[in-house]
Amino acid sequence: MNIILIGPPGAGKGTQAGKLEDERGMVQLSTGDMLRAAVAAETPVGLQAKAVMERGDLVSDDIVTGILSDRLDEDDVKGGFILDGYPRTEAQAHSLDALLAEKGMTLDHVIELEVDEAALVERITGRFTCAHCGEGFHDTFKRPAVEGVCDVCGSKEFKRRPDDNAETVKQRLEEYRKKTAPIVPHYEPKGIVRRVDGMADIETVSDSIAAILDGE
Ligand code: AP5
Ligand code: MG
Repeated sequence: MNIILIGPPGAGKGTQAGKLEDERGMVQLSTGDMLRAAVAAETPVGLQAKAVMERGDLVSDDIVTGILSDRLDEDDVKGGFILDGYPRTEAQAHSLDALLAEKGMTLDHVIELEVDEAALVERITGRFTCAHCGEGFHDTFKRPAVEGVCDVCGSKEFKRRPDDNAETVKQRLEEYRKKTAPIVPHYEPKGIVRRVDGMADIETVSDSIAAILDGE
């Protein structure tokens, strides 16, 4: 099964994609994670993307589509994937249609996480991840069971994203409103758009997504 999770910054795309990986063996394809890896590795793409991401703007369609296309050619995606953060513009939605057709793949669901924007700044500015295994946490909503120790791998090192400050979040939300939210109607004629209340707690959101995937 192949799905898109769509929603503004902080909506819970990464959180839910991670759970789907653990629970269903689907593969999370986060273009944000791919770009952050390129920035960390200081590849030519990473060097171009770094400043753009720190401003909260979108990286160019060609760069992101190129990265995603290569990733879709890897074997592990054949058992099902979750697109997290792609497509993000009208041009990317059209590119994705072409890529999937060319690779003989289809989309089963586009799941829109609906959230109250006022809650997003708190979600994003409180977010941190394990520096070793990447497990996500939150200052208020998801603290490690033992303070200062990752629940998954036991590491004591954590990190925060450079674009997770209140000013950049404002710009990221603006980009979402102007360029990403308007692409949902692209999928309406295919009858695959479903909406989930992303304001519920993490487990309730997961249950709602599971019900969609299980055809309930
Ligand atoms: P990207 O990495 O995709 O970031 P984003 O879309 O801004 O979304 P986030 O990762 O911030 O939020 P999320 O929805 O994953 O929320 P999370 O689950 O972590 O993109 C970053 C940048 O890369 C972009 O700005 C752009 O520059 C570039 N980029 C990426 N893709 C691109 C593309 N296709 N085209 C062009 N440029 C691109 O949750 C947030 C926090 O809230 C966590 O701490 C979590 O624990 C908590 N939380 C989650 N769910 C709940 C809940 N239900 N209740 C309470 N807390 C919750
Ligand atoms: Mg994310």
